[in-house]
Amino acid sequence: MKLSLRFVLPLMLVLAGFAYALAPLVDQLTLRWFVRDLDIRASLIVNTIQEPLQEQLAAGKKAKIGEFFSRITQDERLYAVGYCASPSGAALASRSLPAEIRCDQLQRWQGPGDHLLSSAQGPLHVAVRPLVNEAGTGGNLVLVHDMSFVTRRSEETKRYVFYFFTAMAVAISLITVVIAQLSWRGWMAGMQSLLRGEGLLRQPVAAAPKHPSEFRPIARDLQRLINELEAETRARDESQVTWTPEALRAILHGELRGEDVIVVSNREPYIHQRRGERIDVQRPASGLVTALEPIMRACSGTWIAHGSGSADREAVDKHDRVAVPPEHPAYQIRRVWLSPEEEAGYYYGFSNEGLWPLCHIAHGRPTFRSTDWAQYVAVNRKFALAVVSESKTKNPIILVQDYHFALLPKMIREQLPDATIITFWHIPWPNPESFAICPWRDEVLAGLLGSSILGFHTQFHCNNFVDTVDRFLEARVDRESFNVSFGGKLTAVRRYPISIAWPPEPDMVQMPVADCRSSLRQRNDLPPDHKLGIGVDRLDYTKGIVERFRAIERLLELKPEWIGRFSFVQIAAPTRSGIDEYQHHEAQVRAMAARINTRFARQGPPPIILKVEHHEPKAVYEYCRAADLCFVSSLHDGMNLVAKEFVAARDDERGVLVLSQFTGAARELAEALIVNPYDADQCAAALHMALTMPVAEQRDRMRLMRGLVAEFNVFRWAGRMLLDAAAMRRRGRLIDKPGATSA
Ligand code: G6P
Repeated sequence: MKLSLRFVLPLMLVLAGFAYALAPLVDQLTLRWFVRDLDIRASLIVNTIQEPLQEQLAAGKKAKIGEFFSRITQDERLYAVGYCASPSGAALASRSLPAEIRCDQLQRWQGPGDHLLSSAQGPLHVAVRPLVNEAGTGGNLVLVHDMSFVTRRSEETKRYVFYFFTAMAVAISLITVVIAQLSWRGWMAGMQSLLRGEGLLRQPVAAAPKHPSEFRPIARDLQRLINELEAETRARDESQVTWTPEALRAILHGELRGEDVIVVSNREPYIHQRRGERIDVQRPASGLVTALEPIMRACSGTWIAHGSGSADREAVDKHDRVAVPPEHPAYQIRRVWLSPEEEAGYYYGFSNEGLWPLCHIAHGRPTFRSTDWAQYVAVNRKFALAVVSESKTKNPIILVQDYHFALLPKMIREQLPDATIITFWHIPWPNPESFAICPWRDEVLAGLLGSSILGFHTQFHCNNFVDTVDRFLEARVDRESFNVSFGGKLTAVRRYPISIAWPPEPDMVQMPVADCRSSLRQRNDLPPDHKLGIGVDRLDYTKGIVERFRAIERLLELKPEWIGRFSFVQIAAPTRSGIDEYQHHEAQVRAMAARINTRFARQGPPPIILKVEHHEPKAVYEYCRAADLCFVSSLHDGMNLVAKEFVAARDDERGVLVLSQFTGAARELAEALIVNPYDADQCAAALHMALTMPVAEQRDRMRLMRGLVAEFNVFRWAGRMLLDAAAMRRRGRLIDKPGATSA
């Protein structure tokens, strides 16, 4: 409407100006027409009265002539009549003849011209006509017409002209506005979809406006240009930044104007555990926590998570919040409490017996129960409420983490439509056939598509997700921009390989490598030159610990010279022990380690040192610094941050990483010895190669890997997502600008 007025008003002003300029022309024209009429009329009157007048003159009845003239001037337009017999005499005239008309000045009113006279009564028209008798000229008749009617007519004409132009202006405006509205809407919708990265050809199904085909090539070019510019800017920005906590803070305060950041995950970064009289603070074994904790330290904000520790309730304030890290508080944890039934259904059930095996191709069958699903929905809703209550603004930035919260993005979007929701799926995404077995697959997909950005570690997982959506939902998938449009809402599906903080915290690498080696060898009764391998995992069947032990066994079979000269320390953090599968797995791992140790225990220390217990990050770093090799043999892993932590721990540029090809990390750490964990012989060969690798080669490989982790650290991971979110918010503001959509 506003736009219509903005358009109509100038148009009307132009037309009014035009009408105004036309008015004098109209005046002149009407005057000329009437003067000509009056001239003709005067001649007509003269012809009519000539005869009776001459008779009266001949009879010398001057008084009668005056009366005669007065009678004639009763005509509404004829103002006065006079007769001049000669220039020297006075005129015989009706009483109304103006004094300015005198017989000696009649020549003034003769000849060409309009012969107008202005008087107190208004404009008058004066016509002088000779009277012709048989003897030649017989004096002059003067006819004076009242012209005030001309002014009236002219005013009327001007009024009509004005009405005409006004009507014309309104008609033209209306027609133009209707046409403009139609094409403007088309253009605006096209531009908006371009800015959103959809392209004109790929409109949301729900509100797909028709676009004129002639705009499509321009639209395509425009979209390509926008995409290229964005990609270029991002690449340039990214590579120019040294990715540190400060850089991340600068982005947050500069690009995102210090907006409200909320992280949501199931696992909390600090767990308060009661140990008798004491409360210990534990940092859990979780790649997700490892990656996000430094981000939150840098950004502040609030981290909403399940309060799972035995002393968690004792540590929080009345709003269920606790400031962390305990030594230097930098952000808040907001704890959400779950009942045992909720935890059983949502966490153990649907998340870890359903989605976890579904997404990891580790040959375990997922279990789906409707009771678990009901708890999953309810707990997601509970967290959505917590998010809304923790939001300080209408448009916070919410980082939703992992498969525990597939429904959360949509639930948050319903409450906070302007929020920027970045969801990161930390585990793999399977192919559509595998995912299809989930009975609630459509709900899971629709829930995730409430996100503004949905991130995966690898492009392969992005492709799988997009293929799954394409197969099962009525959604529009743009494979060029990797945007999915569902229910009129756009989700950008992006690859953001996660990483770790770089440089590592100083106290993690404080102890010299030589001291770490001697201390650990001493503690585990190993001779000083004994070779040490390390594995650090949760006791999870996807980590390939069984396959790892098989490879070690095979190494000792194929290369018996390592018996008694090489031990592998497996740190296995107990996890999800409420699930049968995990209990069986733990039993299997323990049994296997025992069997191998028995088999090769005849000379020296055992080949496998299994430590099924939680280790704090500092202790893990000590093992990594002390080891000759690290073996990561996951059967399927989104990224695997242990691989990157091993690299980060080795500031001495020594040590070899043996890495499963089925981890996201294998796509980045190409200098590791990449293996198929199902191939025991190949793994055994890699272990042997690692144990015998020359120092120079170790250094060359480690240097390259350290360079990569340093450059693509976790601040860059978060920074890229936040930069993309900032760009998205800028585009959103542009689209929502008043006037942009009001046309
Ligand atoms: C994986 C998941 C995380 C999870 C972690 C530990 O890395 O992606 O979301 O926190 O495992 O598992 P837990 O069940 O102990 O939190």
